[in-house]
Amino acid sequence: MKKALITGITGQTGSYLAKLLLGKNYVVYGIKRRTSTINNSTSRLEELINFKKFYNKKLFLFYADLNDYYSLKNIIDKTSPDEIYNLAAQSHVQISFELAEYTTKVNSIGVLNLLNIIKDKKKKIKFYQASTSEMFGNQNKVPLTENSIMDPASPYGASKLFAYHLVKNYRESYNIFASNGILFNHESPLRGENFVTRKITIGLSRIYYGLNRILELGNLDSKRDWGHARDYAFAIWKILQLKKPVDIIICSGKNYSVRDFLKECFKYLKIKIKFSGKKLNEKIYDKNNKLWVKVNKKYIRPKDIDNLIGSAAFAKKIIGWKNKTSFKSLVKEMMDYDLNKTKIEKNNKN
Ligand code: NAP
Ligand code: GDD
Repeated sequence: MKKALITGITGQTGSYLAKLLLGKNYVVYGIKRRTSTINNSTSRLEELINFKKFYNKKLFLFYADLNDYYSLKNIIDKTSPDEIYNLAAQSHVQISFELAEYTTKVNSIGVLNLLNIIKDKKKKIKFYQASTSEMFGNQNKVPLTENSIMDPASPYGASKLFAYHLVKNYRESYNIFASNGILFNHESPLRGENFVTRKITIGLSRIYYGLNRILELGNLDSKRDWGHARDYAFAIWKILQLKKPVDIIICSGKNYSVRDFLKECFKYLKIKIKFSGKKLNEKIYDKNNKLWVKVNKKYIRPKDIDNLIGSAAFAKKIIGWKNKTSFKSLVKEMMDYDLNKTKIEKNNKN
């Protein structure tokens, strides 16, 4: 029975990965952070924690932090994993402009801590690093490949690029099995509520049921290459099953603007809309002139990436992976989930 340690197990992709590995009969260890509200921190793992009969002998959570070297070493010594998936990060790009030092400490030094522990172990541990398309920044030549120039546009992107290079350097210097999965945006009903897709599916659902009045967003023109976190968790696992470490892009190969995402959600709701104004004055109304969405400069970043789109050709060749979930299905699954959740909340209020 294989043993895996997942950092970031309480996050979106970590929770999908945990479910996948438990289904493959792994023993799964995860780290969680101390929070003031105990249940909230593990809410995405509820299904796995509550399904005790099946999982309780195989899922174990420990308190730790990427910036607490001793806590990480202690867990790795105790559990002796075969594979470590490092998904923990301060992962919000806009917030990284406000928390630049903290983001760097977690996303860069945290990775260094893990690599140093692995380097000193006798046991060969396979290491996965959650690298990102944000490392590329704004590039004219697209689709982006593993050989594209990397020139990040945020403290988050820069912190992840530092970690990406550390992974390569430790692999080459100390012969450890360490891979960078360069993942493009992946979403799901478990996506953090302040990332744009989930903010939209929650926001529109709440306006639909009369619980909120308006949704405020930032840059509607930027394009992202969006996939489903469940499909990307599978790719992450496949990357660590290779015989040799790699640096590899995982993406859908198609991109859409934030405005396209909004349009698809309104289509799902069967609401006809019209756009008015430009840039900071842009607004979206329905046919009865009810205002649903407006741009607020608060959500515009000091610097943004306009156009992210990747090539999944290398992933197809090396791990036989191809994106499964279409943009339309992704929007549908997220809207279904948030509409249903909002409906229950509304009924409970009445
Ligand atoms: P997420 O939902 O924000 O989850 C981040 C996880 O990291 C959470 O479990 C969080 O714990 C944990 N964490 C944060 N700071 C920590 C610290 N100091 N010590 C230990 N744990 C810490 O992110 P995600 O969407 O699942 O993404 C997973 C990883 O992939 C991240 O590294 C992200 O940067 C990277 N990535 C994501 C995407 C994407 O589109 N989703 C694309 C490329 C790369 P709490 O639950 O306590 O906050
Ligand atoms: N969050 C947010 N909130 N983004 C908005 C908003 C808003 O109100 N309005 C417009 N946007 C735009 C952002 O400016 C950006 O261009 C785009 O929507 C996507 O923003 P996010 O959903 O926050 O994701 P991201 O692309 O910045 O970062 C995500 O993907 C990266 C991979 O490319 C995160 O998951 C990162 O951790 C990940 O590395």
